[in-house]
Amino acid sequence: MAGIELKDRSFTCTAPVNIAVIKYWGKRNEELILPINSSLSVTLHQNELRAKTMITLSSSFDEDQMWLNDKEEDISNPRIQRCLREIRRLATKTCSIDPSYLEGHVQIRSENNFPTAAGLASSAAGYACLVYCLSQVYGLKDVDISVIARQGSGSACRSVYGGFVSWEKGEREDGEDSIAEQVCPDMHWPDLQVLILVVSEQKKTVSSTSGMRTSVETSSLINFRANNVVPARMDEMKQAIKEKDFSTFATLTMKDSNQFHAVCLDSYPPIMYMNDASKYIVQLVTAYNLLYSSPRLAYTFDAGPNAVLFTPGGNIGEILGLVQHYLPPNPGAENYIRGVSAGQAVPPTPSKTTINGIGLLPWKPGSLQYIIHTRVGPGPMTI
Ligand code: DP6
Repeated sequence: MAGIELKDRSFTCTAPVNIAVIKYWGKRNEELILPINSSLSVTLHQNELRAKTMITLSSSFDEDQMWLNDKEEDISNPRIQRCLREIRRLATKTCSIDPSYLEGHVQIRSENNFPTAAGLASSAAGYACLVYCLSQVYGLKDVDISVIARQGSGSACRSVYGGFVSWEKGEREDGEDSIAEQVCPDMHWPDLQVLILVVSEQKKTVSSTSGMRTSVETSSLINFRANNVVPARMDEMKQAIKEKDFSTFATLTMKDSNQFHAVCLDSYPPIMYMNDASKYIVQLVTAYNLLYSSPRLAYTFDAGPNAVLFTPGGNIGEILGLVQHYLPPNPGAENYIRGVSAGQAVPPTPSKTTINGIGLLPWKPGSLQYIIHTRVGPGPMTI
């Protein structure tokens, strides 16, 4: 490059995983990743689950390159290319950095502190981190990066904020109004506890992208859900979160997970993400809640067999006792409970939670690999 030599620009950023309580399922535009319905998620704390990305922009690199968990990835992936193109377009338009940088290339190194593609929304955290870090490297300020993260992976747009986040589906054909918005920050409901029951670390059998394509093409329930159920449910869920109304939050979360999996089953060929262990967890949570006048525990399942449970803080000891009693690990398994209450003594199972004899499916010890105890957390950060 002629003229002044510019220094390399380097940033390291982290971004969180999110778990949807009103599910995104189905696109109206595959290329721009525009959904047929709005969705809402809880951002999980980065102490337990996060993506980390380091990006260097330099005029001395001959090409863009990317590594994921130390393995070089094909950067020609159209979703990554779209994110890079959009960031560079905005950097050019807003003159956010010295124009000479725009002729340079990037080296991107990403890693997750949890298994990739285990159904723990690694692509959401990964794309949110990529786009947030690129926006720092290219000096973009006051830009809604959720529109760009959405084009990497739909659910990634919700990981650009902490707390409770909605993704408004938008009406425009160019997708400029299909954006994420923070409903409430992470500190709004600090009492809410999250347990991730890792049933399987296997890669998913049907990816979300292809599963939702099959559903859009073949399910007759999916449009009913998008048009007649989700709009009201979004409003009720936002209200429940604002009021910290756990009972309504829990009921809507479980019903929405059930309906998403019903749409999957209504697709042809049918898509089954939940396995026997997942179904056992549904029965256990249902039986536990029936002991009380209103729900104390909620489950939700994404495109895989792992369960995510929510409960208010006051219940967490009882719930940890319950899951370890009814979902025991293989004898000798280590670090069964990870995260917030790792290493703490196993609480006894309170007598009220002795729910034997309610016809649970048989549980195979060891069906759960481990449990991650986490909380609601903040959005992406530069470190
Ligand atoms: C079941 O965001 O992974 O987790 O947009 O094709 O990348 P693409 O799909 P993705 O789908 C997530 C589906 C879900 C529900 C949700 O997170 O809302």
